[in-house]
Amino acid sequence: MAQRLDGTVALVTGASSGIGEATARALAGEGASVALVARRAGRLSALADELAGAGATALAIDADITDQAQAAAAVQRTVDGLGRLDVVVNNAGAMLNGPIVGAPLEEWDRMVAVNVNGLLYVSHAALPHLLRAAETEPRRCADLVNISSIAGRFANRGAGVYNATKFGVHAFSESLRQEVTQRHVRVAVVGPGVTATELFGHQRPETQARYAKMLAGVEPLDAGDIAEAITYIVTRHRRVAVNEVIVRPTEQA
Ligand SMILES: NC(=O)c1ccc[n+]([C@@H]2O[C@H](COP(=O)([O-])OP(=O)(O)OC[C@H]3O[C@@H](n4cnc5c(N)ncnc54)[C@H](OP(=O)(O)O)[C@@H]3O)[C@@H](O)[C@H]2O)c1
Repeated sequence: MAQRLDGTVALVTGASSGIGEATARALAGEGASVALVARRAGRLSALADELAGAGATALAIDADITDQAQAAAAVQRTVDGLGRLDVVVNNAGAMLNGPIVGAPLEEWDRMVAVNVNGLLYVSHAALPHLLRAAETEPRRCADLVNISSIAGRFANRGAGVYNATKFGVHAFSESLRQEVTQRHVRVAVVGPGVTATELFGHQRPETQARYAKMLAGVEPLDAGDIAEAITYIVTRHRRVAVNEVIVRPTEQA
């Protein structure tokens, strides 16, 4: 049975668009106070205003999580501003695909920086707070949800470095799960299939054209579909740890 998040605090990275924005709305709808973390301050404050207008508590924190000090400061500002930290959704990410041979190294650096380093920095700063939250009311458990991809389970030609970063998210999550689960910090990985967000639009035109062809006839998921999966995970009774969920569009083979 679902347990609401009243009295808890959730931090969502990449809350300025797509899956993160939808997740922040969904968690606020369950009663959580939400910290919204990303680089585009204008988007974050618009979302914070919208959530406040709906009666929720939201804190906009503009930070580049690829910078270790900014990632740690974002976590600290959450705890200072909202009082505690019960749920972290490591969602911020980048996908810049294409052949490995001759790839612009800058694309690889950007993916590793946000998909791996950013997630690690936020997790490192958040874990002491999550462990503390897990010892206290209202839930006596805490949640770290890492957004991977089906690309974190299955490698594909043309996605090698994105695959490497997301496979890494699964490995880190499973190791951390074994370390903290008995202290009631639940670690989960969510692996979305194709979802209609801004993610694909940051790629080179030839890569975008390749995906458009590959995915012709596939109705993509909505960001809210993934937010629902995340909400399901973090609203379980403390005895229930949903560790991995893969969600694909029905038409994605
Ligand atoms: N869409 C899909 O089909 C799909 C499929 C599988 C997995 N995923 C995963 O889902 C997650 C969310 O992506 P999305 O699809 O919602 O794409 P999106 O709309 O492009 O969202 C990416 C978010 O990450 C934030 N971000 C990027 N770099 C950042 C940095 N250095 N510091 C802080 N925030 C940063 C962006 O905000 P700012 O630019 O404002 O910083 C943005 O809010 C990603 O991890 C992605 O790999 C998506």
